[in-house]
Amino acid sequence: MSTDATSRTTRAVVATTYGGPEVLALTDVALPSPGPGEIEVAVRAAGVNPVDAKIRSGLFGPDPDALPRRLGSEAAGVVVAAGGDPETAAFTVGDEVVGFPLTGAYAERIVVPADALVRKPAEVSFVDAAGLLLVGATAEHALTVTKVGEGDTVLVHGGSGGVGLVAVQLAAQRGARVLATASEARHDLLRELGAEPLLYGDGLLERVRAAAPDGVDVALDLVGTAEALEVSLALVPVERITSIANFDSAPKAGVTVLGGGPGADPGTEIRAAARPRLLELLAAGSLRLVVSDVLPLEEVAEAHRRIDSGHTVGKIVLEV
Ligand SMILES: NC(=O)c1ccc[n+]([C@@H]2O[C@H](COP(=O)([O-])OP(=O)(O)OC[C@H]3O[C@@H](n4cnc5c(N)ncnc54)[C@H](OP(=O)(O)O)[C@@H]3O)[C@@H](O)[C@H]2O)c1
Repeated sequence: MSTDATSRTTRAVVATTYGGPEVLALTDVALPSPGPGEIEVAVRAAGVNPVDAKIRSGLFGPDPDALPRRLGSEAAGVVVAAGGDPETAAFTVGDEVVGFPLTGAYAERIVVPADALVRKPAEVSFVDAAGLLLVGATAEHALTVTKVGEGDTVLVHGGSGGVGLVAVQLAAQRGARVLATASEARHDLLRELGAEPLLYGDGLLERVRAAAPDGVDVALDLVGTAEALEVSLALVPVERITSIANFDSAPKAGVTVLGGGPGADPGTEIRAAARPRLLELLAAGSLRLVVSDVLPLEEVAEAHRRIDSGHTVGKIVLEV
């Protein structure tokens, strides 16, 4: 980082244009000084999510005016400065914090609104903290909207992804029976986390019916395939189906979609409130975050190649 007061910079990842992982570059960018209500954080780790890759590829709109485009929705690190009056600042220098939702979290330093940050429990590593909140808050939102509770049978499509592995654990903690789809290599892991695994693909509807002859109460589409939507609609009343990844045919079928897409329920309050509880669960060992890969910030393009495959297990995290 350059600390010249007139022109501070930090190293950050940008998409130089819209395209594949090769468009990513680690470069010097301007770092503003924190104003009132803002906190400067030295980032130690940043979570990688499919949304980052979708922004990079231009799927969410290839706006040329937004280039070079900063990426990264979540990070964990240490407070290095607080803007405004230190007496009233929400955090002080040295606090370990987790940020979500953020913009431009793939960086060595970030300046963010204080309300995007929560405290990191000492028991939780920077890597785990950086990977938890986007997937955890999304999972909690999906379970809340569909009112998952004691005795429900829940079908989770995409059970071995970042969101899926947290969703199955939180659903089981609510007292639900959890059926989760994944390829066979992920089945043991899903069993360890309290779910009954099912292969996705041809014959899924029959496999679910055989596993749950008394019916399925809730379906969470965490993958966005036509199969996930069709099987869910065949088994579950539409008001207890939700999707985080199908913003086209799911809403047309009357399914509530969640997050930042068109017509979606953003769940801002549910997601913000979930953040400290998710970190407490992780600190207490009551929730497990599966991190499959930790890569240095310099290898962000490789991290994106892996997330683009659509077949990673749990989370990828960049270490700074
Ligand atoms: N709306 C929101 O608020 C929100 C928030 C977070 C994520 N999302 C979106 O939700 C989706 C999932 O996010 P994520 O972070 O969990 O992604 P992820 O970690 O990249 O998901 C990868 C997983 O998807 C599984 N998968 C691939 N094809 C599948 C299929 N046909 N059926 C069932 N599972 C399949 C893979 O399992 P196998 O390896 O076993 O094939 C893999 O474990 C992404 O599209 C993401 O952009 C939306």
